[in-house]
Amino acid sequence: MSPAPIPKTAPFPEEQIELLNRVVGVASVTQRAWLAGFLAGLDAADAQPQPAAPPRPAEPLTILYATESGNSEKLAGDAAKAARKLGLKPTLVDMADLDLRSLASIRRLMVIAATWGEGDAPARAVSAYADLMSDRAPSLDGVEFAVLALGDTAYVEFCAIGKALDRRLEELGGTRIADRVDCDLDFAKPAATWIEDTLKSLAPHDEAGRGRVIEVDFVARQATSADLGPVEAEVGEHINLNSSRSDKETVHLELAFDGAAPAYKPGDSLDLYADNDPAAVDAVLKATGLKDDALRNDLQRNLDITTLSLKAMETYAATTGHRYVKELLESGAAREWIAGRQLIDLIEHFPIALTVEQLRAVTRPLAPRAYSIASARSEVGDEAHLLIAAVRYQSRGRGRKGVASGYAVERLKKGARVKVKLRPSKYFALPDPGRDIIMVGPGTGIAPFRAFVQERRAAGAAGKSWLFFGDRRYTHDFLYQLEWQDALADGALSRMDVAFSRDGAEKHYVQHRMWEQRRDLVDWLDNGAHLYVCGDAKAMAKDVRATLVRAVADVKALAPDAAEQAVRQIEREHRYQQDVY
Ligand SMILES: Cc1cc2nc3c(=O)[nH]c(=O)nc-3n(C[C@H](O)[C@H](O)[C@H](O)COP(=O)(O)OP(=O)(O)OC[C@H]3O[C@@H](n4cnc5c(N)ncnc54)[C@H](O)[C@@H]3O)c2cc1C
Ligand SMILES: Cc1cc2nc3c(=O)[nH]c(=O)nc-3n(C[C@H](O)[C@H](O)[C@H](O)COP(=O)(O)O)c2cc1C
Repeated sequence: MSPAPIPKTAPFPEEQIELLNRVVGVASVTQRAWLAGFLAGLDAADAQPQPAAPPRPAEPLTILYATESGNSEKLAGDAAKAARKLGLKPTLVDMADLDLRSLASIRRLMVIAATWGEGDAPARAVSAYADLMSDRAPSLDGVEFAVLALGDTAYVEFCAIGKALDRRLEELGGTRIADRVDCDLDFAKPAATWIEDTLKSLAPHDEAGRGRVIEVDFVARQATSADLGPVEAEVGEHINLNSSRSDKETVHLELAFDGAAPAYKPGDSLDLYADNDPAAVDAVLKATGLKDDALRNDLQRNLDITTLSLKAMETYAATTGHRYVKELLESGAAREWIAGRQLIDLIEHFPIALTVEQLRAVTRPLAPRAYSIASARSEVGDEAHLLIAAVRYQSRGRGRKGVASGYAVERLKKGARVKVKLRPSKYFALPDPGRDIIMVGPGTGIAPFRAFVQERRAAGAAGKSWLFFGDRRYTHDFLYQLEWQDALADGALSRMDVAFSRDGAEKHYVQHRMWEQRRDLVDWLDNGAHLYVCGDAKAMAKDVRATLVRAVADVKALAPDAAEQAVRQIEREHRYQQDVY
């Protein structure tokens, strides 16, 4: 080893080179290696971190949802979480709160929309939807969009709102970035796949993925009771509230839970998991000639054996090759043929040897049915009460029964066990106890208002409560009559107006009573009252709203347009709430 390893050309003064040579020149290989490593480590520790490429700001994405029972909203939330992970900055917008003008400045738009009524927008989104369909809608040039539609193939207008929005966004100049997917009631899987695929198309494309901001949502989601699976309950009471001479059957059901009742609040519903009618199962097995215990069990508990949809008919034609069903579909007459018919009609009308797999393919999973909770925990503790009307009707020469209502009314008995799941309602809830409330609930629409009145009694609410109820006949169909009388007596209910449609020569419904009382009605609303409507969606809810618009126009001497705007304002303030079906 050279005694002078540091050359004179090293960047040190001459005397320091001499000093270094005195140390390094005599150092062993090990000592020099140590010194070299030590000096390198020292430099690395002192070094300032290299400035990384500046993080690219996350690209904005608007997720617009139109919901009534919360499915679309939940999916929109899931999409937002996934979007953040892909470097997007999502903003969730409820269509009920949509500011139309903001649409034009959006670059990326994901829409998740449900269809309600008979091909209608969810109640809360009706005005915004109408605006979007109108001339007031802005140009959407340069907006990339994709639509996920939620619906139910049992309805003729399957996913009508999602389909219409998809068309409209394109008409307005938007660019469809992913194909629309129309989901049936078992939407979880197709919706998740659509969200994943669509986000990939919408996410910023960067060559090497460098500079992408990944914002992971580390906030653990609070488990809500809605997330808990179905629970079992025992039927404590099962009472028909109609008289024996009524042509209706409406059962009051008291459910007792093994432990604590699901944490429900007035306005929430329970999903009831029903079994199919064994007679309906037998009919399907007989028509198909199939004998299979596993299949029977599935038909009884897990498969929807009544709904006949276009999709089911298409599957029937495709899997069996049935000529006449194919012709019916091709001619466009299938839609009309389906009306008032069920799966059994298809199998009996167009018989063909079916395998177990073919039969399974034309059915979908049996969905639970929702029932408004008719009690408040503050009054009934760990119970939940339901009010279920039997659905029975004749169509195409055959007597038919509703699946879940038939199960609840005819086959459930005291002591039976049922499976239910809480379905919380974010948009149908009591205001603070000081506010006045007006409740419009004919038929089973009365159910949540029993919960409202119980809750307000327990809370000693200062606000007044006004109930409109209607049904067919006073003597036979006055649901919970004694309870309302008690509530009027103890002040839990301030006022009640009733309409029994079949008692007089002319038919009178709740909306007629509202019209008669329009001055007080408008007065209450002017004083900040909240108005709730529950029950039939097809006619009643629409008539009630139209009556309110007319009442406002009449009492305030406003033009129809101005009265419509006044009611829309009440809706925007979330003081007009509906739970209709
Ligand atoms: C949030 C919510 C709350 C609800 N709360 C209540 C409640 O408190 N009480 C209550 O009783 N119900 C309530 N319902 C309705 C309930 O969920 C069911 O839809 C209802 O009980 C019928 O279900 P089903 O299984 O008996 O009938 P299904 O087997 O689902 O059959 C109903 C179908 O039969 C057909 N149909 C019915 N009547 C006729 C007819 N006259 N002519 C031709 N076709 C017909 C229609 O296609 C209809 O969709 C609520 C619904 C929702 C969404
Ligand atoms: C009373 C009622 C009416 C409905 N009407 C339709 C309809 O006309 N067309 C359709 O495709 N789906 C219809 N559906 C199914 C809903 O769109 C479906 O349940 C959807 O998942 C609800 O989504 P949401 O929770 O976001 O509101 C209806 C459901 C109910 C309960």
